[in-house]
Amino acid sequence: MLIAGNWKMFKGPAETAEFCVELKRHEADFEEIDVAVSPPFTSLAVAVQILAGTDIAVAAQNVHWEPEGAFTGEVSAPMLRELGVYGAIVGHSERRQFFGETDEGVAKRTRAALDAGLSVIACVGETEAEREAGETDDVLRRQVSVLEAEDNLVVAYEPIWAIGTGKTATPEIAQEAHAFIKGLLDVPVLYGGSVKPDNAAELLAQPDVDGALVGGASLDVESFAAICLTATRS
Ligand code: PGA
Repeated sequence: MLIAGNWKMFKGPAETAEFCVELKRHEADFEEIDVAVSPPFTSLAVAVQILAGTDIAVAAQNVHWEPEGAFTGEVSAPMLRELGVYGAIVGHSERRQFFGETDEGVAKRTRAALDAGLSVIACVGETEAEREAGETDDVLRRQVSVLEAEDNLVVAYEPIWAIGTGKTATPEIAQEAHAFIKGLLDVPVLYGGSVKPDNAAELLAQPDVDGALVGGASLDVESFAAICLTATRS
């Protein structure tokens, strides 16, 4: 079971330091689960430094497929490794929606990150319109087909209509999508989309839900720790 916090474009180094110091105090309560936080690039170093020596991992929110080169605004897997970062989120729906990320790009970023020794959380998920049109399986099949199963790869199922909206997928919807994804690719599958302390238990109780990618509720250390504790008990 993995609980990963996706901070998106929140928390500079000072706030990150404060959060990580607090989170460390909760660490002893997180039994038999993996916990990761994903700060913005500029806050990765301080998170790595403060969480060193704990089992809480630090992941980036994106990673480029080339080790270096003329790619303004991008950060490579070897650069993240040098910093002590353990993994990266790839293909988040906000990357796909606002920054033109394609399935092909997601595949390249994932491949390069895994080859460089990073763990990857690759995100997939359908829009509300796609779900209503009965296209969920086709979309998931297309997005998952570019990935290959590997030890350090985890998929996050994040229905776009549930992200930041407060509309969580029902545990049944999540379970169905997770089982479908696992039928395509044999990797752990996290659920993401409005996961909160009060709905985490029923989502994490589903047989094919292997953890959560938490956005908004991961920004507050107490609510993130509460979700981690729920996972410990699941
Ligand atoms: P949310 O975001 O928990 O705020 O819905 C999840 C995500 O985008 O990873």
